[in-house]
Amino acid sequence: MDIKNLFFSYHAKEPFIAIDELKISEGKITTIIGPNGCGKSTLLALIAQQLTYTAGEIYIEQQNISRLSRKELAKKLAIVYQQNEAPEQYTIRDLVKVGRYPYRKGLNSLSADDLTAIDKAIELTGLVALQDQRLAELSGGQRQRAWIALALAQETQYLLLDEPTTYLDLHHQFEILDCIEKLNKNANMTIIMVLHDLNQAFQYSDEVIVMSKGKIIKSGQPTVTMSEELIKGIFGINVQIIEDIEKNKHILPLRK
Ligand SMILES: Nc1ncnc2c1ncn2[C@@H]1O[C@H](COP(=O)(O)OP(=O)(O)OP(=O)(O)O)[C@@H](O)[C@H]1O
Ligand SMILES: [Mg+2]
Repeated sequence: MDIKNLFFSYHAKEPFIAIDELKISEGKITTIIGPNGCGKSTLLALIAQQLTYTAGEIYIEQQNISRLSRKELAKKLAIVYQQNEAPEQYTIRDLVKVGRYPYRKGLNSLSADDLTAIDKAIELTGLVALQDQRLAELSGGQRQRAWIALALAQETQYLLLDEPTTYLDLHHQFEILDCIEKLNKNANMTIIMVLHDLNQAFQYSDEVIVMSKGKIIKSGQPTVTMSEELIKGIFGINVQIIEDIEKNKHILPLRK
């Protein structure tokens, strides 16, 4: 994906998002990090064409995606928001079926392909046993997985996830991240996600994008990009980056 000269503002005056050039590698996991309010969710929403930018272009395989119809775009790119809302009477399966709308013609019943994609998405997110439960009866983490399953049912090349581990306990955080990693490795999906946990960003990303005040400060391989100085500069926190015996790097916040 190529992003060029992208400008956007919520309030007319100054551009809030200003990105000259950004390349997001296909088939990789890219994580956007940065403080609250720096524009991470806004950037995902711009990529997903949920907000109209004042200038700029976003290309997937040389195709300017602002020119695609809703359905065409939904076959290329799926997004799971930071907060998602669905009718409470929906079951998980009802929700996941929604992911097939770009492939459906009118009110025809689900095709064999639709059913295969729905079953696969439910299985990949570990929701087989829960699929007929209503969303209102789920925990925050189960609901989060149901939304990821909806996105998977869209069978897209790109998957955008805004803080996919919010609401999840530590076990389920890693379960979701492992699931995302598998989708990347096995299905070759390009993942663009927002994470707040810098150690998880270190561990799971091929590339990171560091944002501050609507701009991209730095991007590249996590271990090269995320230095102690950079983290101090962006988050105002002193950290020490340590290496374990397997040479994996970890960020250790230091108290003042
Ligand atoms: N719909 C909106 N209308 C006006 N301003 C908005 C709107 N949505 C977000 N903003 C503002 O734009 C800025 C960036 O918001 P955004 O949600 O992109 O940040 P973020 O990096 O995702 O933060 P967080 O880590 O808290 O999720 C914030 O200052 C926010 O107040
Ligand atoms: Mg956000």
